[in-house]
Amino acid sequence: MILIIDFGSQFNQLIARRVRECGVYCIIEPPTIPIERIQEMNLQGIILSGGPCSIYEEHCPRIDSRILELGIPVLGICYGMQYMVDTLGGKVQRALKREYGFAELLLEHKDNIFKDIPDKSQVWMSHGDSISALPPGFSISAKTDNTPVAAMADESRRLFGLQFHPEVVHTTKGKQILHNFLFTVCGCKRNWTMRAFAKQTVSEIREKVGDRKVILGLSGGVDSSVTALLIHKAIGANLTCIFVDNGLLRKNEAAKLKLTFKEHLKINIRFVNAAKLFLKALANVADPEKKRKIIGKVFMDVFEAEACKIKGAEFLAQGTLYPDIIESRSAFGGPSAIIKSHHNVGGLPKRMKLKLVEPLQYLFKDEVRKLGAQLGLEPDLVWRQPFPGPGLAIRIMGAVTEKRLKVLRDVDAVLIEEIKAAGYYRKVWQSFAVLLPIKSVGIMGDSRTYEDIVALRAVTSRDAMTADWAKLPHRLLGRISNRIINEVNGVNRVVYDISSKPPSTIEWE
Ligand code: XMP
Repeated sequence: MILIIDFGSQFNQLIARRVRECGVYCIIEPPTIPIERIQEMNLQGIILSGGPCSIYEEHCPRIDSRILELGIPVLGICYGMQYMVDTLGGKVQRALKREYGFAELLLEHKDNIFKDIPDKSQVWMSHGDSISALPPGFSISAKTDNTPVAAMADESRRLFGLQFHPEVVHTTKGKQILHNFLFTVCGCKRNWTMRAFAKQTVSEIREKVGDRKVILGLSGGVDSSVTALLIHKAIGANLTCIFVDNGLLRKNEAAKLKLTFKEHLKINIRFVNAAKLFLKALANVADPEKKRKIIGKVFMDVFEAEACKIKGAEFLAQGTLYPDIIESRSAFGGPSAIIKSHHNVGGLPKRMKLKLVEPLQYLFKDEVRKLGAQLGLEPDLVWRQPFPGPGLAIRIMGAVTEKRLKVLRDVDAVLIEEIKAAGYYRKVWQSFAVLLPIKSVGIMGDSRTYEDIVALRAVTSRDAMTADWAKLPHRLLGRISNRIINEVNGVNRVVYDISSKPPSTIEWE
């Protein structure tokens, strides 16, 4: 295993991704992690990440310096490198010129981590500090025009530093450099596969849960579906899933899920049709945050009432992913300001005094998809686009009614069918329709119409934190618009949303 110390760089998750892409398991921990824990980890290598601070600032993050004396190879990236220099007796200074963007890396010495790297290659820099004196034992491995120490090494102690970011794609040989660190320097084996992960996780769940009972809130999304599959594999009938139909789902969604989980996968599942309850609570509510609060509260009540019927349940399973875990703590180990308000079942475990099982907590989304495929989940579910907990309620501007839900469901079904047929469903992050609270004039046959407007929204994104509007082909947009206006009663105009996030958001509410 490789340990990545999180000094706060926005690229931390990317480092972890790259390491795992090489088939090596790694975890990210804050610098406050005790040295004793690190010693117990059976590590093959340590990566110190970049970060926004300067090492000479009073409150910059630091880790126990004994980490550099364990005999384990260490790779410091950007701030991580500067931390090494400062700790081991070198000098870091504010650079004369801040270097940001592309630079040409010129190799001076081909130590192990530059194996098979050409003498000149493109790297990506982002730093305001530079190394002005190397610590004893180190020598310069590479420079750029602006940075005399762009890479350094002490091969005898297996300590390496890079001023540039090997984890970003703009560093053209970055993957090879990380590969060299993992395999040539650390002697890692390529054994992190989803198959191995599934096997190990299933036995861990068995050990933790034993013959006790687990409840899981199934939403139909890929995360909760894969969680269900893993736990079912581990404990079979002792898992009960609860699916709450809030009446705000897309066309045929509940029925499809029932078929998959009950009929095909033979998983214990309780379907609760609470549509009427949700719609009643939402009557005449137009404010988006009020809608969210109401939906969250009704969900908790319905879920809890159903869960109480499952006698002797001690665990609640959740499909929490690694980015949620990383984002919900700060770079310095304390609780973070970023708390996702998107977790619908967040308050449940406390309220119901249940222990948590979160088998996906070390995985990224694309790994969850791979794991789902490995476990035999059908492609439709493996590749399902994210869908918000409050469902269509936050895609109907204004109050939610049965009638408006039907219109949006029909529109959405056409949109998804066409997006899938054109091969864009997996290429975009999300694609959906929004029903506007205004009407517009149109002409159908020889008559004037005064009907609803829908907006189509399709975005590309890596993690939903930022997003760009998808450049869907005009012909595809034309076909979708034609079909919606012809097939869905009550809609006479279709518009396309061409805003990015930020400053807009993905959902309209
Ligand atoms: P925004 O609209 O904030 O959305 O750009 C980012 C991602 O989060 C989803 N989203 C939600 N998911 N409950 C959820 O479970 C919510 O209230 C909610 N609001 C937004 C959105 O679909 C996108 O993937």
